[in-house]
Parts: sequence; structure tokens; C-alpha cells
Amino acid sequence: MNDKKLRIGLFGFGCVGQGLYDIFTQTAFSAEIVKICVKDPSKQRPIAADYFTYNADEILENPSINLIVELIDDAEAAYQIVKTAMLAGKDVVTANKKMLALHLDELIALQEETGTSLLYEAAACGSIPIVRNLAEYYDNELLHSVSGIFNGSSNYILTKVIDEKRSYDEALAQAQDLGFAETDPTLDVAGYDAAYKLCLLTAQAYGIVVSPASIFRYGIQGVGQEDIQYAREKGYKIKLIAYVGKIDEQTITLLVMPHFVEQTHYLFDVNYEYNGVIVEAAFSDKQTFVGKGAGGHPTGSAVLSDISACRYNYKYEYRKRLRPQPLHVSQEVFLEVYVRYRNPEDMEIFNFVEVKESFHGQSYGYHIGTVRLTDLIAIQDTLEKREVFIAHLGDKPQKEPTADKQQKKVFSIA
Ligand SMILES: NC(=O)c1ccc[n+]([C@@H]2O[C@H](COP(=O)([O-])OP(=O)(O)OC[C@H]3O[C@@H](n4cnc5c(N)ncnc54)[C@H](OP(=O)(O)O)[C@@H]3O)[C@@H](O)[C@H]2O)c1
Repeated sequence: MNDKKLRIGLFGFGCVGQGLYDIFTQTAFSAEIVKICVKDPSKQRPIAADYFTYNADEILENPSINLIVELIDDAEAAYQIVKTAMLAGKDVVTANKKMLALHLDELIALQEETGTSLLYEAAACGSIPIVRNLAEYYDNELLHSVSGIFNGSSNYILTKVIDEKRSYDEALAQAQDLGFAETDPTLDVAGYDAAYKLCLLTAQAYGIVVSPASIFRYGIQGVGQEDIQYAREKGYKIKLIAYVGKIDEQTITLLVMPHFVEQTHYLFDVNYEYNGVIVEAAFSDKQTFVGKGAGGHPTGSAVLSDISACRYNYKYEYRKRLRPQPLHVSQEVFLEVYVRYRNPEDMEIFNFVEVKESFHGQSYGYHIGTVRLTDLIAIQDTLEKREVFIAHLGDKPQKEPTADKQQKKVFSIA
């Protein structure tokens, strides 16, 4: 089979677009970038002006362009570009997880309908080749769970704040300067970005398309000095972890929230902009993938891998969606959590099934105990408005609360 000759229309020439262009110039990769569509005509560009257009149709209506590489930071505009391109019979490579997660069902159907291919390795965990692995390698494996650090910016911030004792604002500004953070950093630190990626990996791992809005999502914005102090005293680190896993043969559960991880945890030493994915399966046991999750070159390398796959008409087939007995999603699980508060009234919204440990100090306190995920989902909208911080302790969500025979510990400082 001869490789297809690729003529590329590129959308976006920011952090990832320029990273990809750089990789093209440093490798002998044979594909031609015909035109680049950007937004702001007043910006200085580092390459010849005749590469650029500000009119998307100049690329989308050019019949000689057979591959669209979409690397813009606007999910709605990206959706229109990707849809128009696929309807015009062009293959698409994109890094836009928000756009994909919000429209995944429709885009999978469009791929089928148009015979085009829609690839998005760079949209989940930057340089880590996890999408194609879940789609292909683990096809027949009995996957217990896929979890990990999916957002490079929040991991960068947490590393700076915990390991280097920097302030949260300073760490966020550095993540933005280095091009790791999304244009709107709330997408990173509030856990949206990780939830979008979790949707993409869930579709590949389990054949289920989940709406990002249905996932419990709690980010790192509320982390305070008291929580960092608690983590240091116990020898933990705080990591923002996305999780999808089976709770029984027919059911999976999903969540995104901070986690206190112990030194023996596979993700303990995954720091800065690195991402880490743990795949747990029945026979291969635990496998870990670690790599840079953000930045122009690491993300560009995953885009290049997809472009390369388009030369031989590769596409995701979503075979797990055709299972005779599809899995379903449940949030009826129990979590062991740490909840720190400054105002005792803020604790009234929490419904603990059991409290194992409590601390009441002059300026703050915390409870450690078991909660239902459904109860956290019910208060999700109010959580970010309260002066609390919640982190998951323990291994994974449980179908039943773990029976704890130990006596409840209560500490207080008058
Ligand atoms: N940065 C990372 O580390 C990273 C990692 C993984 C995935 N991603 C994803 O990659 C994509 C690009 O991110 P980025 O960090 O490269 O963003 P960025 O640095 O902000 O660059 C965005 C680019 O998109 C262009 N653009 C915006 N709206 C446009 C429109 N309607 N039509 C044409 N061009 C438009 C901008 O044009 P101007 O140059 O004219 O402003 C700019 O060149 C996003 O989906 C992001 O989620 C990024």
C-alpha cells in the first residue's frame, strides 16, 4: 500500500501550532503545510506571511488540501472547522479536548458517515500515546481502571506550591508563561480539562460516551496552606487525579478530584508539567505511562504521530461500542475523603456516612471519613464558593463503605 500524500491546512499557530511547525522543520517528515489559518491579523509571525490566511474557507474549500490539523484555542470555532472539514471529505487531526468531549457522539457518527478519519492523540495527556493504546492494544483486555494526572498545568502548580513552597498565584503565572495553561486557566485548575480528557479515554477504554457535565469534577483552586501542611506531615503529595474504573462487571464510575498520594503511589514522583496514566487490567496488572502533558513540542509530537497515521488511513474504530452488553455508568459509590473547612457552617452541606478522624483548631478544622459520590455531586455547584478543600484518600471508589473497626480519632486545639 502506498502512503497517502498529505497536503495540510493548519488552524492555529500558537504554542502547539508553532511547536508542530518546528518539529516539521527539524525532521524529514514528508507532508506539506499548504496554508495556516489564524485569527489576529495584527500579530507578528515568525515565518513567511504568505503562509497565513484569516479566512477559514480558504483552507476548507481548497480541494487540494486533504488533511486539516486543528490547533486553535476556541472550542466552538474548532467544532465548526472540524465538522465542515469532515463533511468535505477531509481527514482531521485535533488537540482540542473540550470540543471533542462536548461533541464526541456526533463526531464519531460523522467519521462513520463520511469515511474520513478523526484523530486526537494530543488531546489527552500531551505526548503520552494513550488514546491509540486504549483503542488498539487493550481492545480485548479486561480493563479494571484508567486513572492519572491528566492536566499538566495543575500538576505544575501543585509541584511548585508543595515541593518548592511557591505561592499559588506565582505558580499559575509561570504555568501560563511557559504555555502549559489554557487561555482560560479555570479550565485547568477547576478540573474541566481533566474531565474532558477523561471522556475521551472512557470512550476508547470502555466504549461509552459520557457527557463531561455528568462527571464529578472538583479542582485545586481551594488548596490552602493547611492542606499542604497536612500533606507534608503525612508524607503525601496532592495530585489532581481523573479516574474511570469498573465497580462491577457491568458498571463503571468516573470522577476528577485532588488526591493525597503516598510515597509508594505510582504518581508520587510525576511532577511539574508531566502527566501519568495508570492502566489496570486483569492480566497485565498495573502499567504506567509517564510523559510531558503540555508544551508546544511534546504536544506537537503527538499531533505529528496522528498526521503520520493519516498517511495510511488509520482511524479509531470504537469497536468496544459494539459490545453485546454495553457497560453503564453509576455514581453510587463511596469515597474516603479529607474535607478541610475554615467556617464550621461550611461543613453542614456534607453528609458523611462515617467520620474516622476530626480536627478542630482555632482557624480551621478537618474531617476524614466516607461520603457517597452522589452526595458530592448534589453539592458540586456550591463547593467552589465555600472555603473548603476536599481530597480523596485511599485507593479508589468503593461499591460499599469499608467497615472500619478502628475508633474514631478526635483532636482539638482550644
Ligand atoms: N498548550 C498546550 O500545552 C496544549 C497541550 C495539549 C492540547 N492543547 C490544545 O491545543 C489547542 C491549541 O492550544 P495552544 O496552547 O496552542 O493555544 P494558543 O497558544 O492560545 O494558540 C491558539 C491559536 O489559535 C488561533 N485561533 C484562535 N481562534 C481562531 C479562529 N477562530 N480561527 C483561526 N485561528 C484561531 C490563534 O490565532 P492568533 O495567533 O491570531 O491569536 C492562535 O494562533 C487547544 O485546543 C488546547 O486545548 C494545548
